[in-house]
Amino acid sequence: MLKEKFVLHNGIEIPKIGFGTWQIENDVVFEPVTTALKAGYIHIDSASGYGNEKGVGEAVRASGIPREALFITTKVPAEIKTYEAAVANIESSLAKLDLGYIDLLLIHAPQPWDKPWQAGHRYYEENVAVWKALEEAYKAGKVKSIGISNFFVDDMKNILANCEIKPMVNQISFHIGNIQKEAVAFCREHDILVEGYSPIATGRLLDNKEVEKIAEKYGVSIAQLCIKYVLQKDILPLPKSANHERIVQNTQLDFVITDEDMTYLDALK
Ligand code: A2P
Repeated sequence: MLKEKFVLHNGIEIPKIGFGTWQIENDVVFEPVTTALKAGYIHIDSASGYGNEKGVGEAVRASGIPREALFITTKVPAEIKTYEAAVANIESSLAKLDLGYIDLLLIHAPQPWDKPWQAGHRYYEENVAVWKALEEAYKAGKVKSIGISNFFVDDMKNILANCEIKPMVNQISFHIGNIQKEAVAFCREHDILVEGYSPIATGRLLDNKEVEKIAEKYGVSIAQLCIKYVLQKDILPLPKSANHERIVQNTQLDFVITDEDMTYLDALK
């Protein structure tokens, strides 16, 4: 499962499950990433905003796994909204990761995190300027694919109307109870792969009795069921864990959720 790939619209292959590193600090990220790579993950999701690119890069280099066998994602922070600052940040990410190139680079969010999401200013022009920096890094071969994260339909329309190169990925929050129908449909229509972060709802699904009942039926943990659910929706899950056993457990997904149970899970709020 960890070695299976989706193919992006530019032909680049992306491993179907990524290891999420949000909220894993730089000084401790070495071990979880090392565990994840030993467990068979070949796709690691980092971000400039997580502050852990250096640690992620160190763990990847120390693994001894050939660079081309791995897929590394990072993101331009949501707060960066000018072309110049984006160019500088991409160089900084390349230097901190120190892995030669970046496999996937995303704009972390259409609006800075400290601004209310629905507040008047949508940063349309600014996102186009930042996108231009990503396009240039792509054309220069510094990054192998480019995309967006947390973009709503309007934000995506803005990029599509003004870009030279279409985003290959949109990384959004996606889990049972939050299946983002509009954004997913729009992405499918435009050949943009959807990645789902927080497949376990940052842990909130772990005490959901309805999900627990279904997990028991397959003899798997709630986390495993949640991750497999995302995969069976043809969305790329990015489970996060800082714990050795759970990192390994989250790779054990050799079961199939029936159509009937998928429909049941689709309807959960
Ligand atoms: P921990 O890091 O201590 O393992 P998400 O991927 O939706 O963001 O969820 C991450 C949260 O779920 C983290 O708090 C993580 O805790 C927890 N988690 C991840 N995998 C498992 C698992 N297999 N069993 C229980 N909790 C898990």
